[in-house]
Amino acid sequence: MPAAKKRVRKAVFPVAGLGTRFLPATKAVPKEMLTVVDRPVLQHVVDEAKAAGIEHFIFVTGRNKGVIEDHFDSQYELERTLAERGKKEALEILQRELPAAGQTSFTRQQAPLGLGHAVWCAREIVGDEPFALLLPDMLHHSESGCLSDMIAAYNGTGGNLIAVAPVPEDQTHQYGIVGVTDASAKVSRITAMVEKPKAGTAPSNLHISGRYILQPEIFALLEKQERGAGGEIQLTDSMIRLMDDGNQPFHAVRFDGSIYDCGSKIGFLMANVAYALAREELADSFRAEVKRLL
Ligand code: UTP
Repeated sequence: MPAAKKRVRKAVFPVAGLGTRFLPATKAVPKEMLTVVDRPVLQHVVDEAKAAGIEHFIFVTGRNKGVIEDHFDSQYELERTLAERGKKEALEILQRELPAAGQTSFTRQQAPLGLGHAVWCAREIVGDEPFALLLPDMLHHSESGCLSDMIAAYNGTGGNLIAVAPVPEDQTHQYGIVGVTDASAKVSRITAMVEKPKAGTAPSNLHISGRYILQPEIFALLEKQERGAGGEIQLTDSMIRLMDDGNQPFHAVRFDGSIYDCGSKIGFLMANVAYALAREELADSFRAEVKRLL
């Protein structure tokens, strides 16, 4: 058993995928840097982690992703120009959001071998402690914040946690699905996990939505994990082994807010609409413009 309830201080953001569904936009710009309103998708997810108390942000990047590192660094020339021009508000935004020195780490996944492999690339930086994992293209929009809810649940359960949300029964074959002891409870013990189950075989309609708290024992399993669905090293396959062979508890935390899959065009466009409507200074004029368009 892992040391129960060691604090979750670090978060991993896998950002090494190719983003082929967004070509040509993602030829030179990583898909995680596409903007939802005026912030890169990735920044929204880092904000969620910050609000949950995460202190160290670990990015698993790849080729052509240097701009991600730049985004989380200070931009001396820009800041100086803003200061000279008296653009106090813009300068304040940049400075407020800058991570403190030493709060970020970047490592590279040299080939996009799958999510499981990307997570494994962070093993040395995470070390021997539990960590959060946030898939940056899945935006979770809610009052309290998905990762904050999960950390609150973790303080009770310890072990491993996965955020889940219901999907229509006829779509379960597209997702990682979990079976739980009580599908209506906010926090429930996971009894089964399966990646993209064949139609009619899913243990429930609760899908793994892209937020995890994992114990470091996952790394040894990922290291030996063979390629699974889609020829990729799948995180779910190693989580199943950690639960079944490693006897580690997994709990599902049901997320009740809205989820936008920004890796898909419709999800990305919907996120822009929803996040713009949630912004007080934009909502009225944006709603009027959209109505005009429709
Ligand atoms: P996706 O499978 O949605 O990303 O991975 P993708 O491969 O970039 O997208 P498409 O299908 O080609 O359009 C979910 C998250 O995991 C990361 C991605 O960057 C994304 O944030 N990922 C995926 C990696 O870091 N490495 C991988 O090998 C695969």
